[in-house]
Amino acid sequence: MCGIVGYVGKKDSVEVLIDALSKLEYRGYDSAGIAVFENEKIAVQKSKGKIKDLLAKMESDKRPTGVCGIGHTRWATHGEPSDINSHPHGNKRISIVHNGIIENYKQIKDFLITQGYGFESETDTETVAKLLDYYYDGDPVNTICRTIEEIRGSYALGIMFRDFPGKIFAARKDSPLIIGVGENENFIASDVPAILKYTRDYYLLEENEIAEITDREIKICDTHREPIIKELQTATWDIDAAEKGGYEHFMLKEINEQPTAIKTTIAPRISNGMPYLEESGLTKEMLKNYNRIFIVACGTAMHAGLVGKYVIEKVARTEVTVDIASEFRYRNPLITDKDLVILISQSGETADTKAALELAKSHGATTMSVVNVKGSSIARASDIVIYTHAGPEISVASTKAYSVQLSVMYLLAFELAYAKGVISEEECKKLTKELMDIPEKLAEVLELKERCQFVASRLVNSDSLLYIGRGLDYALSMEGSLKLKEISYIHSESYAAGELKHGTISLVTEEMPVIAVATQSDLIEKTISNIKEVKSRGAKVIMICSEDVEDDKSVTNHLIKLPKINDILMPMLAAVPMQYIAYYTAVLRGCDVDQPRNLAKSVTVE
Ligand code: F6R
Repeated sequence: MCGIVGYVGKKDSVEVLIDALSKLEYRGYDSAGIAVFENEKIAVQKSKGKIKDLLAKMESDKRPTGVCGIGHTRWATHGEPSDINSHPHGNKRISIVHNGIIENYKQIKDFLITQGYGFESETDTETVAKLLDYYYDGDPVNTICRTIEEIRGSYALGIMFRDFPGKIFAARKDSPLIIGVGENENFIASDVPAILKYTRDYYLLEENEIAEITDREIKICDTHREPIIKELQTATWDIDAAEKGGYEHFMLKEINEQPTAIKTTIAPRISNGMPYLEESGLTKEMLKNYNRIFIVACGTAMHAGLVGKYVIEKVARTEVTVDIASEFRYRNPLITDKDLVILISQSGETADTKAALELAKSHGATTMSVVNVKGSSIARASDIVIYTHAGPEISVASTKAYSVQLSVMYLLAFELAYAKGVISEEECKKLTKELMDIPEKLAEVLELKERCQFVASRLVNSDSLLYIGRGLDYALSMEGSLKLKEISYIHSESYAAGELKHGTISLVTEEMPVIAVATQSDLIEKTISNIKEVKSRGAKVIMICSEDVEDDKSVTNHLIKLPKINDILMPMLAAVPMQYIAYYTAVLRGCDVDQPRNLAKSVTVE
């Protein structure tokens, strides 16, 4: 949700900033801009649209030159996407880029107007730029301290002062920011992929810390100007991980990375054939003694939690409550210090999930996060962290992050079931082995690409469709439905198959395809009855099921068959055809697959 970068070194800063921004474009793509020190002045270029539009503008207008600058890619909050509302904001003396939301911007703006300031944009960010100008006393750090004392909300800021060429300043609260450490060059960025081409070493800027950065030096202090010594972090992600690697889209690449991502996530958590989560601090003793388990997350991560609920309840006979983070935080949930609250988040920065974590902590609950981005806010604030090892997920539509989140849900369910004595060691080993076999089975499922492409060609002209399922298949179908609507813009609902006749079936016509997920052998007969109900009302039905289901044209129009494995693990396989169907439908409809309209990855606003 907005990406910010900064560079100071010897290279052409515009080239570095554009390259770094292109790695952060998944965070927002409504507009982009840069500010660069050029001949002792701050030169700014910005444009509505994507980074390619900014490049085109610089080509036709002017491309600044210089070795120090800041850049921004925007997901609009305050003010529509436009050249004027694009970052950087400021004036001749100060230029800033910002990720976050300034909650009291209106009061600050009103005050600054009384002080003679004028405003061009509708953004909250411009008020911070002008407040910095108001407090400017020739000492940038002092100016920043006074400014951040006044502002409420979330921010990661990159700042340049005309009087300090060759220096960038940074500050943050509730929005992520790293400082990349290179050789005679340094960086700031919202996320690691932006700097991977140049360096793997970075510092994590913490809440209310201020950084002063030149090509050779990084000084960090707190708001009392006390110097802070930081531990250098090293990124483990591969440089290629943030590139398309020959695939047409990141989404397709990431779908295909799932077997490896799952293997890398589960392998270190299995010891002697048994799940082993103790290295993250979650002992069997703790696990079995929690009163209640909550899973809280947003979007796809919440859908992974829903599968987790079904699996934990089924295998470990333990009740789990799943909540959408934005609901959980305001529903005054009944949490106690004997409960475990699990937060699932790919980015580790989602504002609502983070707020839910803080709420759980304030009630004394143990918090455990399942997070993909190392050192992210949610990971750092949790009592226990289980990192998924999916590598960077660039496509806005989450695929591999979902699969690795599922794999952690399984490990947790098996470990809990064994800790509580619900299953024997032998049963636990058997289930764990079946989980370990998933990557191999998934490689087979990835071969279903053409079949899914064909199914997509049947959906491409639909305005609306239904995803249906029962039990685990219902939880899974929610993700299939979200994926499809998110990137193809076809309206889609997921519905519990047995619930259709209580209202929703009135929507079913020949024009509305139905995708039925039917991987659970104990429920398939019931799902087939529900399929017949929609089929007899004209719907074209696509069924995702296991290979032992017979092809019966009186039931379905098209089948997608998956290898037969233990029912409980079927979601891990069935996710792939749903992802492929969404992907190919979006491609056939000419949609921007990796950057769907109105969306951004890493939702740092509530
Ligand atoms: C959909 C998608 C989103 C995210 C959600 C939570 O494809 O990616 O629904 O799952 O915004 O994001 P994280 O997992 O970063 O907390």
